[in-house]
Amino acid sequence: MKISVAAGKIEKQKTDGAVVLFFENEKPGVVAGRIDKALGGTITRLMKRGDFEPKPGGVHLLYPEGRIAAERLILAGLGKREDFNLNRLRQAAGKAAQHLRAAGAADIAFSCDGIGLDPEETAQALIEGSLLGLYRFLKYKTSEENNIKKDIRAIAIIAEHAPEVKALQAGVKTGEIIAGSTAMVRDMVSSPPADMTPAIIAAKARQLARDFGLKLQVLERSQMEKLGMGALLGVASGSAQPPKFIIVEYRRGGKKPVIALVGKTITFDSGGISIKPSENMDKMKDDMSGGAAVLGALRTAAALKLPLNIVGLLPATENMLSGSAYKPGDVLRTLSGQTIEIINTDAEGRLILSDALAYACRYKPAVIVDIATLTGACRIALGQEATGMLGTDEKLKRKIHEAGEKTGERVWEMPLWEGYYDLIKSDIADMKNAGGRDGGLITAAALLSKFVQNYPWVHLDIAATAWTEKDRPYTPKGATGIGMRLLTQFLRDYAVSNK
Ligand code: BES
Ligand code: MN
Ligand code: ZN
Repeated sequence: MKISVAAGKIEKQKTDGAVVLFFENEKPGVVAGRIDKALGGTITRLMKRGDFEPKPGGVHLLYPEGRIAAERLILAGLGKREDFNLNRLRQAAGKAAQHLRAAGAADIAFSCDGIGLDPEETAQALIEGSLLGLYRFLKYKTSEENNIKKDIRAIAIIAEHAPEVKALQAGVKTGEIIAGSTAMVRDMVSSPPADMTPAIIAAKARQLARDFGLKLQVLERSQMEKLGMGALLGVASGSAQPPKFIIVEYRRGGKKPVIALVGKTITFDSGGISIKPSENMDKMKDDMSGGAAVLGALRTAAALKLPLNIVGLLPATENMLSGSAYKPGDVLRTLSGQTIEIINTDAEGRLILSDALAYACRYKPAVIVDIATLTGACRIALGQEATGMLGTDEKLKRKIHEAGEKTGERVWEMPLWEGYYDLIKSDIADMKNAGGRDGGLITAAALLSKFVQNYPWVHLDIAATAWTEKDRPYTPKGATGIGMRLLTQFLRDYAVSNK
């Protein structure tokens, strides 16, 4: 994709598709007003008639027939100005880009005047929104159905005011990096489990480390045995695929303490001996979404050269059944020394995370954030509109919440009260891995909290948000790449407030 910024007038721009943005209940702005005039008042008439209402995500396609330089014109709605934010802008950009691609355009030009937001953030949102909206996973499509040949090859942002160009360019660069990392996460999550095994993820991490100057270490089974990662090894015991414990380090923060990011990386979750029903079991390839988001965030941090020290930990294995698989009734000894009685082998995420969180503590981190497709109960509680958040540190929770509001990857807090811990008490071990149906999202997090010592910690449950069955404005159906932009925003804010 060729992305550019130029100063000029959008109506003079030779392009397959110009995009002009509109607020609800407002007359067209200066730029839109000029275009309206060039079109003989068409836009005003359309709006009066109600054929185009600038609702969020609303788009209308026009053919200017030579009256402006663009072949096609998209009017895109931003909703009401008082409700306007960057997420609305990403949505409008995503919708407009999708519409233009479907119409056959090969390039787009956005006009971004009169929006009233910071130009750098505006450009970032336009590029993120359009690139994420245009995202497709085509690796396994061999035929030309779905018009896979039709594609947008260039995006331009046209500014009326030349002095804004520099800030817009900076935003474009950030947006491109972030959209690129999100696409990488979506690709990984969409990939068939046979093509995204722990070994393949380790190789992918190695390639990223090479390309972005990260440090990589991969622990093999024998090393995990020596360390005593009994929980991760227990989950891995039923699989023919060797487990990998992937450690990615990014250091550009001098003597600052590290930020530890831990991502659940189950490359396929069959449920193990407590096997899942076959309906939708194919979706359990997405059970490595947390690990992919962590890898994506490290890629982005490195590309943006954030002044931070970060370590990413990916406990990676399949959860399978076989003669050697771990069983309900087993007791696993974790890296921390604590023991866990297995009630249900399908509650495997918390097991591999317990070892990874204990390992994270070895870095004496400033904060620990884990991200995991951990519980079906999270979807029951919050639906697909929010990622579940639980944690031990008010400031950290607030920072993550803010990052969620900014990126549109919203989080909602659930309580970690004492009473929930009673539900995971075991008769024979220190705790059990499943606490029954009550508060399933919370009891999973309660178990995790036993492995983070006193470090500030937040857990993010993305079981319901990692995958979407319906198209959203800049998130086509399938893998959402959730967590990548959330973690990145958290890291960028953290770099600013912890200089
Ligand atoms: N990976 C699943 C959680 C999940 C479920 C993600 C549905 C996406 C969609 C996790 O390992 C799991 O199986 N959790 C169990 C826990 C239970 C056995 C205590 C669950 O939520 O049913
Ligand atoms: Mn499971
Ligand atoms: Zn799982």
